[in-house]
Amino acid sequence: MTDFITISNMNCSIRDIHILKDISLVFTDKGFTSLTGPNGSGKTTLGKVMTGILPFQSGQVSIEGKDIRSMSLPQIGRKIGYLFQNPDKQIFAPTVFEELAFGMKFKNCGEDEIRERTDEMLDIFDLKSIRDSTSYFLSQGEKQRLAIAAVLLNDPEFLILDEPTTGLDIKRKEDLSRYLDRIKSKVGILMISHDKSFIDRHSDRIIKLEGGCVKYDKRC
Ligand SMILES: Nc1ncnc2c1ncn2[C@@H]1O[C@H](COP(=O)(O)OP(=O)(O)OP(=O)(O)O)[C@@H](O)[C@H]1O
Ligand SMILES: [Mg+2]
Repeated sequence: MTDFITISNMNCSIRDIHILKDISLVFTDKGFTSLTGPNGSGKTTLGKVMTGILPFQSGQVSIEGKDIRSMSLPQIGRKIGYLFQNPDKQIFAPTVFEELAFGMKFKNCGEDEIRERTDEMLDIFDLKSIRDSTSYFLSQGEKQRLAIAAVLLNDPEFLILDEPTTGLDIKRKEDLSRYLDRIKSKVGILMISHDKSFIDRHSDRIIKLEGGCVKYDKRC
């Protein structure tokens, strides 16, 4: 395992409110870390800083040794897949299929590859019956599964999933679990979650934030 994202003494304020306080953490390119903590403790803010969506005021954040401030959002996006806490912020294509195919079309993948890989995701995340449905009208759970599948299809080297189990029923949570089991030896995963059983099932490491500070960081 090698270091992938390094955060050193990072502070982040939003509109003069000090949200993240002196955060120092290293994430490796493999393994499953959960980030937990009460509402408002700064979990989503930390995920957004790690993907360059939010600026920070002091300290360092680097991806494979490169200062994140010198990288563009598309550059970061090619390395890190980010699932928003709210899938409505993620989904933009008119249909389920187009949402899944977008990243591969952008990379000029061939039609056969696009069909094969989207079919696999439609199957894994139980989206087959709504392949051509309008994204806007999907249920919350369907949107969540679509957003997850679309992020995974981009083949990120590292994944940040902000509350991926929200809105998923037991069966769909189990589908997601099985898929994460399959990929966690190949990509680093940071999952933000309150879901204790899901955290306990998957984590090699659990970090708890409280009031914008790291309360604990333990290996499991
Ligand atoms: N754009 C913003 N403007 C002002 N305050 C913000 C903004 N974004 C976040 N905050 C504040 O930052 C703090 C941390 O928010 P954050 O969303 O990171 O918490 P969280 O740990 O993800 O909570 P939850 O478990 O509810 O998702 C909160 O007090 C929130 O009100
Ligand atoms: Mg949050």
